[in-house]
Amino acid sequence: ATDERIVVTDVSPRDGLQSQPVPVSTPAKLELIRLLAAAGVPSIEATSFVSPKAVPQMADAAAVLAGLAQAAPGLRASVLAPNLKGLDRALAAGAREVAVVLSATETMNRRNINMGLADATAVSEETLRAARGHGLATRAYVAVAVECPFEGAVAPGVVVELAERMLAAGADEIVLADTIGAASPGQVRALLRAAAPSIPVAQTGVHLHDTRGFGVANAWVALEAGIRRFDASAGGIGGCPFAPGAAGNLATEDLVLLAQQSGLATGISLDGLAAAVAFAEQQLDRPLGGRSLGWWRRR
Ligand code: HMG
Ligand code: MG
Repeated sequence: ATDERIVVTDVSPRDGLQSQPVPVSTPAKLELIRLLAAAGVPSIEATSFVSPKAVPQMADAAAVLAGLAQAAPGLRASVLAPNLKGLDRALAAGAREVAVVLSATETMNRRNINMGLADATAVSEETLRAARGHGLATRAYVAVAVECPFEGAVAPGVVVELAERMLAAGADEIVLADTIGAASPGQVRALLRAAAPSIPVAQTGVHLHDTRGFGVANAWVALEAGIRRFDASAGGIGGCPFAPGAAGNLATEDLVLLAQQSGLATGISLDGLAAAVAFAEQQLDRPLGGRSLGWWRRR
């Protein structure tokens, strides 16, 4: 027992499912969300309002949002909305919290949202301002915050400057994202040190992918730097379809176990998470799970 807690946003319904080759039905997405809520997950990223041509799996975004009140009443749910069109769709569907996604390099923005860095920055700013104008809570991802699959290493100063602009445009939370899971703990520490003077730690979250097996180590470094907001994905599913080499997200179960054994509360039950992962395994027809899950199931 401890008063120290971390806030986990489970992004499996969005980041986890967006690039799955198997189509997942809207009722199955809602069942996954119901199981996550039942496990005690306090916050999820439910879906994304992006072009259905770019990401077919998220074409049912409005239907997912419409089903949320019944599937998981009271659950904090954000949605990805990278531009005003996405925001309008999200508002029409009843969203209360939206996230924009700005990448720190020219090429990653072009591949992901079909505009260069300058336009992506301006569009993210206008989307945040409009969202705030409508009274929504806001998150701003700064993606490829350590390494870009196209342009290589990204300087912390570049990321911090973009994060400052997102904060000034009304982001409640800055989410520093290691899109392709390339960051080492030393690099995460350097980025968080660079961000600390201008981006309040209470408003900073980290979004880690686990390609090289550094996800938990990177989360620990973030914890030690005072970060208390973490994105993670049940079963470790995830990855941006436009970022080659992106493997799954840091598994929620690995993060929760790390926190639990380190005396930090998450409010999340590992048995509940295991049930959500088992359901996702059925849907995707393959074994899933972070490093810790096999041990948890056998213990
Ligand atoms: P575009 O083609 O440049 O957009 O796409 P456009 O403004 O030229 O419009 C073209 C068509 O798209 C138009 O329709 C628009 O209405 C429509 P048409 O007239 O041809 O029928 N359109 C939209 N439709 C639905 N929702 C929208 C929307 N906007 C325009 N919001 C766009 C630009 C951003 C839409 C496109 O490139 C896109 O959808 N990209 C997908 C981005 C994405 O979902 N990426 C994966 C998520 S990001 C991620 O995974 C990273 C993250 O996890 C953090 C990390 O790990 O780093 C968040
Ligand atoms: Mg991601």
